[in-house]
Amino acid sequence: MRVRILRLIPAAIFTCLVLTPVLSAQMDAAKIYKTNCELCHGPDGSGNTGTGKAMHARDLRSDETQKQSDAALTEVISKGRGKMPAFGKKIKPEDITKLLAYIRILAAKK
Ligand code: HEC
Repeated sequence: MRVRILRLIPAAIFTCLVLTPVLSAQMDAAKIYKTNCELCHGPDGSGNTGTGKAMHARDLRSDETQKQSDAALTEVISKGRGKMPAFGKKIKPEDITKLLAYIRILAAKK
C-alpha cells in the first residue's frame, strides 16, 4: 500500500509542474486582455461594446481572424493596424503570445 502511494507521488508532482504554468498563463492572459483589449473587443472577443462598434473592431472569434496565422495576428497586436493600437511597447512579447492563445480559446468557446 505504502509503496503504491509513493509511486504516485512523482506522477502527482509531474502533473502539478505541467498544469500550473498552463493554468497560470491562461489567468495572466485573461488579466492582460481585460486591462488592454476588453474596451474594444469585449469580454468575449465579439467587439460588441460601445467603443468596439464605434471603431469597427473585428470579432476576434470570427473565421476572418482565426484563419490568420499566429505570426500575422501577433504583428497586428504588436504594431497595430488602422484603429487598433500598437501594443508592442506596452506588452511583453511573451505576454502577446499568451494573448494570442487566449484569443484562440475565446474562439473555441463561441
Ligand atoms: C481602441 C480599441 C482597441 C483596443 C484597445 C484593442 N483593439 Fe484590437 N482591434 C481594434 C480594431 C478597430 C481592429 C480592426 C483593425 C483594422 O481595421 O484592421 C482590431 C483588430 C485586432 C486584431 C486583428 C483581427 C483581424 O481579423 O485581423 C487582433 C488580433 C486584435 N485586434 C487583438 C487585440 C488585442 C489582443 C488587444 C489587447 C492587447 C486589442 N486588440 C486591443 C481595436 C482595438
